[in-house]
Amino acid sequence: MLSKANNQLITETGQGTPMGRLMREYWVPVLRSSQVEPGAAPYRVTVMGDKYVVFRSPGGEAGVMNEACPHRGASLAMARNEEAGLRCIYHGWKMAPSGRLLDAPTHSADAPLPEIKTGAHPVHEGQGIIWAWLGTGAAGTAPPFRPLSFTDLPDSHVISATAVVNCNWLHPLETLWDVFHAQILHNQTNRNSSRGSAYFSGSGRRTDSGIEFDYPEMRAHSTDYGFAYANHDAAKTTHFHFIMPFIQHHAISPGAMADKGLQISVPIDDDHAVLWMIFYNRHAPLQPDGFAMQNLASIPNLNDFLEELGERTADNRWGQDRGAVDRGESFAGFGGKKTTLINIFAEDLAVIESQGRVDRSREYLAPVDMALVKGRKTLVDAVKAYERGEAPLGRDCDLSDIEAGFDVVKAQP
Ligand code: FES
Ligand SMILES: [Fe+2]
Repeated sequence: MLSKANNQLITETGQGTPMGRLMREYWVPVLRSSQVEPGAAPYRVTVMGDKYVVFRSPGGEAGVMNEACPHRGASLAMARNEEAGLRCIYHGWKMAPSGRLLDAPTHSADAPLPEIKTGAHPVHEGQGIIWAWLGTGAAGTAPPFRPLSFTDLPDSHVISATAVVNCNWLHPLETLWDVFHAQILHNQTNRNSSRGSAYFSGSGRRTDSGIEFDYPEMRAHSTDYGFAYANHDAAKTTHFHFIMPFIQHHAISPGAMADKGLQISVPIDDDHAVLWMIFYNRHAPLQPDGFAMQNLASIPNLNDFLEELGERTADNRWGQDRGAVDRGESFAGFGGKKTTLINIFAEDLAVIESQGRVDRSREYLAPVDMALVKGRKTLVDAVKAYERGEAPLGRDCDLSDIEAGFDVVKAQP
């Protein structure tokens, strides 16, 4: 369990909150590159409760600015995307992606333009992802972009997809730390996929509803970027890494040459997040028979890769097919989606969105929740250390060697 005070400390990320201050120290993925065309209308995004526009100048440079015009706050979503910068349509201020005020018709022609902050943010673009540094003066200046395991790869080796989820940003991370639930919630989905024989020993415990699972042993340890943990069970050993403040390397396929995956959970506000799904292969361009393309190639809209799930509310039991459960066709009642990945997300989102605002002081945690406890403690300690004046945990590390691992323990019948 987590005290109410610490729960609030790590889940709320609005301006002025301790977690919000810390999270703004790190580079944040804000939009897939393909969502902004050169010279096209700026794209509105909300991150940690703050509104921004993302755009690409006619020359191709990506920019991220506060949505409110620095003059008097008109929305720059309506701004003209002119050569070298955005021009507000209200009084015509023009601002470069670098933040320089290029023109201000509100001032006399020969007036030196004032040294004002225009609300432009440093940008890094690569692998089809636009990242921004959203820190303020109080958070200092932008650190160099932090290398991750896929950020030096050609675009052909990486694929990303995003979706909005209706829960606090911590829920998607918690469900990744909670490796055990895959043995129950995703049991049938995994068994019905090519992953099945890698996931289950065939000699495990069995619920009286026929779900056969392998009880795991878990280990976790702190690292200079967050924490690492391993899950050992009768079928496999998987290794995971949490990178501050919101990145999770997740074991997806056995074998050293297989595609690797990570997820990033970026708060929109305290009840919504953008979930980034990123797959990559360090050894070769993504292949049609690899996990990434097998699961994403048929998805029509990678900007909303969970579109197929439709509306998920209490009124429709978050999309559960109760008839399939009643007829004994399905344990959890989610299935039949385009790919294994989407079936797994259907199951995950149903349970994590159904949690609502979690009061973590009222839980009864179990031994298999140990990585979850470690993750929460990592965040609590990191926020408190930052508030004491220490450097943001892992912000300045080279993390290009950090990735998940998946080893099948023994051959399955
Ligand atoms: S509000 Fe944008 S130029 Fe005045
Ligand atoms: Fe899951």
